[in-house]
Amino acid sequence: MPGDQPADLSQTAIDDLVAQALTAFADAATGAELKAARLAHTGDRSPLALANRAIGTIPGPERKDAGQRLGAARAQVGRALADREAAIGAAELAQRLASERIDVTLPVELGPEGAQHPITALMDLMNDVFLDMGWEVAEGPEAEGEWLNFDALNIGPDHPARGTTDTLFVAPIENHVVLRTHTSPVQIRSMLDRPLPIYVVCPGKVYRADEFDATHVPVFHQIEGLVVDQGISLAHLKGTLDHLARSMFGEDVETRMRPHYFPFTEPSAEVDLLCFVCHGASVGNPDAPCRTCRSQGWIEWGGCGVVNPRVLAAAGIDTDLYSGFAFGMGIERTLMFRNNAADMRDMVEGDVRFSRSLKGMAR
Ligand code: PHE
Repeated sequence: MPGDQPADLSQTAIDDLVAQALTAFADAATGAELKAARLAHTGDRSPLALANRAIGTIPGPERKDAGQRLGAARAQVGRALADREAAIGAAELAQRLASERIDVTLPVELGPEGAQHPITALMDLMNDVFLDMGWEVAEGPEAEGEWLNFDALNIGPDHPARGTTDTLFVAPIENHVVLRTHTSPVQIRSMLDRPLPIYVVCPGKVYRADEFDATHVPVFHQIEGLVVDQGISLAHLKGTLDHLARSMFGEDVETRMRPHYFPFTEPSAEVDLLCFVCHGASVGNPDAPCRTCRSQGWIEWGGCGVVNPRVLAAAGIDTDLYSGFAFGMGIERTLMFRNNAADMRDMVEGDVRFSRSLKGMAR
């Protein structure tokens, strides 16, 4: 142990310690190595520190000289250490900057990009047509009371659509809860909930025990419209449908109302669109058949009619003062016609490429 021997404080011995320290600092290549060298040569147990402590044991006039020698030596070592620390710090920083350098001019690898589902986009767009006219958007539950889905809409207990072959019931069947087969129960909810007059659209999911093929899916979307006000007639219905059709398909689209039957409207009609593909030219023309309209000239878009007074009465509305109209159409069908989406299965399979292919189509 150095401390056990009398310290040699001669100039030669001190120069030797200084030289050792300077060599160790110079040899240190990293911050960690320099730290080790610092502890060895300037730390509490280093030869220089021990020599410093030994000064007190030196007699008389010798002590002052030894103190000056040692002080100069320690100052020199301290300066060398600081210089080396600065140099290594700068080198390490430069190395880190070089290794972490980012070339902002390199081409970026883009992550996969999603897209809003076309059904959602189209539903928003259809809502906007009505919001722009001051209507409101109303919603209702998908698991719906059987009474609201059928009875309140004047669909009697024996109507074939109420059977389990067409309608999905939520078990147990005695609870009389169905997955709504259309958005029309939201008509009833709106009439029960809202003050008159009523101008609402009700978009949403509906369920039917249907096939799954290119033109049928068991879960699809409808948008329902309902107006109840004073002096409402079939003319208002026709004008509204024409406005919606033009907003969806362009100014030159043609619509027609074809008499039909719905229990909840009277009179009732189906709304057809003039075939986009053959514009009616395929009718009675076997040489040029049209697959889109099956040579009918028109394609069915939805149902509509003047609200049956029995439905208004079921919702407690005074039928002497008020009348209304309603319509409903499939969003998937609208997307098929509007955007040439030939296969409905694409709309439920969730392949983002389908969504991306119709991205921005709504504007
Ligand atoms: N609910 C009808 C259907 O799903 C469509 C419809 C709505 C008809 C409103 C008339 C009025 O087929």
